[in-house]
Amino acid sequence: MNKAQLKIEVCFGPDCSDKGSRELAKELEALGYSIIMGDCRSQCANSPLVLVENLSVVTATCAKVLGKIEAWKTSEDS
Ligand code: FES
Repeated sequence: MNKAQLKIEVCFGPDCSDKGSRELAKELEALGYSIIMGDCRSQCANSPLVLVENLSVVTATCAKVLGKIEAWKTSEDS
């Protein structure tokens, strides 16, 4: 599966947006990932929220999301 096919949802709800989710989405897009703009999923206390193939990344940073992508790929390969 190539990068653009991975399902990466970034919460664009108000709290996550305040914590930089939209900038994070742009960073991930710049790295070649395609982003789904998500709605609030009631994880606002742990914002920003990103879902990588439906696996949550809370208090997400670019590095944490990339780590989750690697973990997901590894689990798919095994
Ligand atoms: S605003 Fe993102 S989980 Fe609520």
